Amino acid sequence: MAAQVEGQAQTDGLPKGLRFVPGYLDRPGQEKLLACIREVVREAPLYTPAMPRTGKKMSVSMTNCGPLGWVTDKERGYRYQAMHPSTGRHWPAMPAELRHIWEELADYPHPPEACLINFYDDMAKMGLHQDRDEEDFDAPVVSLSLGDTCLFRIGGLFRTGGKQRGGKTISFRLASGDAIVLAGASRLAHHGVDKIYPGTSTLLKNGGRINLTLRRVTRPDRALSA
Ligand code: SIN
Ligand code: FE2
Repeated sequence: MAAQVEGQAQTDGLPKGLRFVPGYLDRPGQEKLLACIREVVREAPLYTPAMPRTGKKMSVSMTNCGPLGWVTDKERGYRYQAMHPSTGRHWPAMPAELRHIWEELADYPHPPEACLINFYDDMAKMGLHQDRDEEDFDAPVVSLSLGDTCLFRIGGLFRTGGKQRGGKTISFRLASGDAIVLAGASRLAHHGVDKIYPGTSTLLKNGGRINLTLRRVTRPDRALSA
């Protein structure tokens, strides 16, 4: 059975190495960041990605900014690439605001290369998965929530020494402005979004939730030039 943390932010039982920073961005900070994201989306529109092999459409729509972006499709599966799959253009540059968030939270000496922008409407969710398409797991994944609150789930199967073993998952709410950092032992933890709570934020005029995940993709010694 999954542990459930309702209401108040609580860090008991979270995977080791995970940092949860409720209220990392105040409302003006959230508005400023949202304005940057809107500009990115104007250049690199949200699109609906498809799962590898089955081609099943995801319920979340996505885009990216930075030198690389995370994409998935039926034929080629999960990967990073420099171009938007629909427009064929390079992803927009990563706004300074996002680089600043990485500098404050990542505790990692090299800049992020990708920011995946996920948009959840009222019905969208994301199944449990690991973020493992990056070359360097020493770099954390820094995640920021904007808009409606979601029920986030983390834990479950961990891969240790090549073996899968079961484990409990824990779920808790992420609200607009909350940050989490998947670092250390939590870097490869399974995580997902069980549901969105519509009407819990006034940040996005038409509702929904935006999640931003900042990632280092390449090993620093093989870095793309900035
Ligand atoms: C993700 O794992 O890519 C998104 C997580 C979230 O939406 O909080
Ligand atoms: Fe993820």
